[in-house]
Amino acid sequence: MATVEFRSVSLTYGGDEPVEALRDITFEVGDNEFVSIIGPSGSGKSTLLRLIADLLPSTSGRILINGASCSRARQGREIGFVFQEPALLPWRSSEKNVRLPLEIMKRSGEGGRQKVAELLRLVGLEDFGSKRPDQLSGGMRQRVSIARALTYDPDLLLMDEPFGALDQITRDEMNNELLRIWGERRSTVIFVTHSISEAIYLSDRVVVLSPRPGRIVDTVLVPLERPRDPSMKHMQLFYETELHVLQALEGRTAGGVAS
Ligand SMILES: Nc1ncnc2c1ncn2[C@@H]1O[C@H](COP(=O)(O)OP(=O)(O)OP(=O)(O)O)[C@@H](O)[C@H]1O
Ligand SMILES: [Mg+2]
Repeated sequence: MATVEFRSVSLTYGGDEPVEALRDITFEVGDNEFVSIIGPSGSGKSTLLRLIADLLPSTSGRILINGASCSRARQGREIGFVFQEPALLPWRSSEKNVRLPLEIMKRSGEGGRQKVAELLRLVGLEDFGSKRPDQLSGGMRQRVSIARALTYDPDLLLMDEPFGALDQITRDEMNNELLRIWGERRSTVIFVTHSISEAIYLSDRVVVLSPRPGRIVDTVLVPLERPRDPSMKHMQLFYETELHVLQALEGRTAGGVAS
């Protein structure tokens, strides 16, 4: 299981011209919850994920994963990270890209081979294990990186605009694939996106950030049942939730932050 707790977290990038990226972020993500983070470019979304993944220390405040530090979670391999760009090694096949974390940990024996085959099946690429990234479509490359992020059965999956570079139809397909995968192996997901409808379709809750420095302006509960299906995007409830998130992004909700 994985719960994530932000307690008054702020982050300023140092240097000659310091950049205040996040200010006083407090929120909680429950076990197996799917939460999206949405906000304008530069509002600190990627920074927020980097903090959780322990790739960056916060300037002040605390982040707890299952009540302990982020470095504990990283060392315990509780976190999987899917980057905006698939970040695959171009000379390695899908299978070998998925196997990479196991090789690094020297666990690529028979058990590792089975694990890789199972993950490729899970993301629907069982017939593409021997193909290199340049022999795959953009959506397929993202599936390989999702499979790779799942190698250690992480309790917490961090996804940074994983489908941002895909066309709308492929993106919709990948959204459904992700929901299917998440349905099969539950984990806590924190998903960064620019798309309001993607955030609503996937999530239990949507956390809306203000322009830089990122502050939480609103947290919108998604009132749709699960399992989700594409027809829900035409429901009145869906439109109303979209409007709510849009108003929060524009700083027009009650919780809005005056700048
Ligand atoms: N390594 C860094 N050093 C200094 N400033 C940085 C660094 N990384 C990010 N920033 C600044 O911090 C702010 C937040 O950046 P971040 O990448 O978290 O935004 P974002 O919300 O992910 O944006 P986008 O939607 O464009 O990906 C930006 O103003 C950016 O210029
Ligand atoms: Mg970003």
